[in-house]
Amino acid sequence: MLEIDLRGKRAFIAGIGDDQGYGWALAKALAEAGATLLIGTWTPIVNIFETSWQRGKFDASRVLKSGKLMEYAKLYSLDAAFDSPEDVPEEIKENKRYQGSLGYTVSEVAEAVRKEFGKIDLLVHSLANGPEVKKPLLETSRKGYLAAVSSSAYSFVSLLAHFGPHMPALGASLSLSYIASERAIPGYGGGMSSAKAALESDTRTLAFEAGRKWGVRVNTISAGPLPSRAAKAIGFIEKMIAYSQANSPLPFAMNGEEVGHAGAFLLSPLASAITGATLYVDKGLHAMGLAVDSPALK
Ligand SMILES: NC(=O)c1ccc[n+]([C@@H]2O[C@H](COP(=O)([O-])OP(=O)(O)OC[C@H]3O[C@@H](n4cnc5c(N)ncnc54)[C@H](O)[C@@H]3O)[C@@H](O)[C@H]2O)c1
Repeated sequence: MLEIDLRGKRAFIAGIGDDQGYGWALAKALAEAGATLLIGTWTPIVNIFETSWQRGKFDASRVLKSGKLMEYAKLYSLDAAFDSPEDVPEEIKENKRYQGSLGYTVSEVAEAVRKEFGKIDLLVHSLANGPEVKKPLLETSRKGYLAAVSSSAYSFVSLLAHFGPHMPALGASLSLSYIASERAIPGYGGGMSSAKAALESDTRTLAFEAGRKWGVRVNTISAGPLPSRAAKAIGFIEKMIAYSQANSPLPFAMNGEEVGHAGAFLLSPLASAITGATLYVDKGLHAMGLAVDSPALK
């Protein structure tokens, strides 16, 4: 039987804050395939995530097919918008959600993982942040645009640059993109569409560089709409889900598991010849050139 077997592999998944998003779904699929999980959770929400985990809030979502609960080997506080301590502005250091937290920049987390675990085989980037996401691009400030690209695209470059040297040949990495990278999606503003375009372009360039340097693969999944915490904060996710259902070749709502399974495949040896790819996991919506529920067609 052909199966995804990730036993003996260690994965670092950046961007899990609860059990509703794609990061969780990817973690679960990797755990189902036997991988050991290291999690990077955004510094301001680390405490709430850990407390919720310990109090059993995620227990129902943690159940694996074997009946066991998904576990992680270690959770790291991570702010992927910063590469090293010198980059952290005073206002962030003084912010009460960061006080008492140390070692959350990308270089420090990568070094801590190296010291504690030696190497990781798999790297997952499932995070995005655009402070002005609700503003149209024409109304987005330079600061907001650059913040979106920094948190949502450069963060992947930085994670790969810092973890790559500690990844073995045949290691693999994955990020999460969105169709707004290549088609106009009104409402997905603040430079977030630009950040996703950068992420997809970087996937190709990094595939070449990381492939030649370390033998590591780099892919991204362009995912359909899911009502995650981040997506709900943008404000119109339910409409995007309804639109996708009405107009996709496969007219059903997405679930996280579908992205989790595709991600586990891309990260597994079964995908050993796939790198530099953007894989659409969106019920086929990307293939459509016409909104079939448009009133104009009636
Ligand atoms: N939900 C969707 O409809 C959808 C569709 C396509 C792509 N995506 C992408 O999937 C990925 C995961 O998002 P999601 O929708 O599952 O939501 P989510 O809320 O589960 O995940 C986003 C995570 O990013 C974290 N984060 C934000 N800024 C960070 C930083 N500076 N450092 C570290 N972590 C940070 C948040 O704390 C959160 O846990 C994102 O890249 C998103 O753009 C989502």
